[in-house]
Amino acid sequence: MEIKFEPVPIEQVETDALVIVAFDKDSAGGLAFEAAKAANAATGGWIQELYESGEFAGKQFEVVVLHRPAGLKARRLVVVGGGRAAGFGSPELRLTAAAAFRALKPKGVRSVALALDGGDRLNDFAGAAAEGALLGDYEPDQYKTDKKDGVAIDLFSVVAPGQAGAIDGALARARILAGAQNFARALASEPANRLTPTLLAERAHQVCAENGLECLVLDQDRMRELGMGALLGVAQGSAEPPALIIMRYRPFEAPANAAHLGLVGKAVTFDTGGISIKPSENMDKMKFDMCGGAAVIGAMRAIAQLRPAIPVTALVPAVENMPGSRAQRPGDIVTTLSGKTVEVLNTDAEGRLILADALEYAKREGCTHLVDAATLTGAIVVALGHVHAGVFGSDQGLLDKVLGAARAEGEKMWPMPLDEEYKEQLKSAFADLPNIGTRWGGAVTAAMFLKEFADPLPWVHLDIAGTAWLEETKPYMPKGPTGIAVRTLVHLATDWPA
Ligand code: BES
Ligand code: ZN
Ligand code: ZN
Repeated sequence: MEIKFEPVPIEQVETDALVIVAFDKDSAGGLAFEAAKAANAATGGWIQELYESGEFAGKQFEVVVLHRPAGLKARRLVVVGGGRAAGFGSPELRLTAAAAFRALKPKGVRSVALALDGGDRLNDFAGAAAEGALLGDYEPDQYKTDKKDGVAIDLFSVVAPGQAGAIDGALARARILAGAQNFARALASEPANRLTPTLLAERAHQVCAENGLECLVLDQDRMRELGMGALLGVAQGSAEPPALIIMRYRPFEAPANAAHLGLVGKAVTFDTGGISIKPSENMDKMKFDMCGGAAVIGAMRAIAQLRPAIPVTALVPAVENMPGSRAQRPGDIVTTLSGKTVEVLNTDAEGRLILADALEYAKREGCTHLVDAATLTGAIVVALGHVHAGVFGSDQGLLDKVLGAARAEGEKMWPMPLDEEYKEQLKSAFADLPNIGTRWGGAVTAAMFLKEFADPLPWVHLDIAGTAWLEETKPYMPKGPTGIAVRTLVHLATDWPA
């Protein structure tokens, strides 16, 4: 889909569908945006009439389509509800644009234009609108032989009168960010029979080749030589060999400071639980257990294209957690790459095991700051539901950077505690650490386990188990992978202070 900027008055926009945002009338007034006022004036008060008839109230994601609007060159005028005008920012616009776009997809529309106001938020708004359209365009339908949409929308333009050139940068960035996020979603939507650890490594390798990144994939033999007992222990129950994917981005110029960002992503291509096997109900969902890895690979694709000043290395441990005859057993003790021993009391707590070795390897790559993303615990879903990802960290400075990046990108993330007291749960009678704690505070003890391997580096952990997969279709997104964390990770790298 082409994304374009049209700096013309809305009356002159030639498009199949001109979208304007109108608000809840109880708040600051439905027509808070100049573009909505202009559309209302050009059409001789159509939008006002919509409100008065009670057919439209400006509620979030409400969509009304008017054909052949008087006074406009557009073939349709689409009024989309923005909800409350107060507090409407780029995160809300991203979702609103996506909802409008998704409402238009089945209507045979080929071109869509969204009218924005000028002002100091134009750049942010333009980027968010373009991202909304591109993200709204995504469909996890690669295995449907009968695709829902007959024709695709092939042009999306952002309309803002008299602002020529102002937002080209924002649109270019939006293309890269949304492209990377959709790429991560496409990886995540692959079922486990079509995306094994080996195939994931091939996909990552292709991203590297196409975007000028260095790529290195450690195979099972190399892992044995190095002593990655925790990662190998998880992998040994599957016929599919594991892979540790390493992707390196290096800026052209030596960076001013010595910071080197390491992004680590859990990629369990399928999590049966191993010998501590999961119940069969909803087990199909566990193909999503590589969403952290997909987010990191997607982020690296955007980072390669946006070229931040800081070097970034991605580490994605990829395995399948299966209960094969060679599988590790509860009670097994593995020696991690760091030298610490772990008693595997539950083979379903496998994410932290593979991350332990990846975090240690990240240190050996010279990373100075670590951020990991993982569908790590059911407990984070209990704590935060499907709204916020949980954020844990050992360093306030890095935590603030990550939370700031998440806020700027409209990805909901909530800080979680990591007090030393939780460590009391991590006691093993026979090894340095057990891989599980007690029943309580499971998301925290999982993070605490990771911290043992990230220390002493500043480190942040994103538990995306509740937010990586949308359980039910929303107006702005179909059921399936969300691509959470991609934009936050990219923002973190591109905004890293020089
Ligand atoms: N991949 C799961 C986490 C998960 C569980 C995500 C449910 C979404 C829904 C992870 O590997 C896992 O199984 N964790 C266990 C840990 C437990 C055995 C300590 C869990 O959360 O139940
Ligand atoms: Zn598990
Ligand atoms: Zn898992």
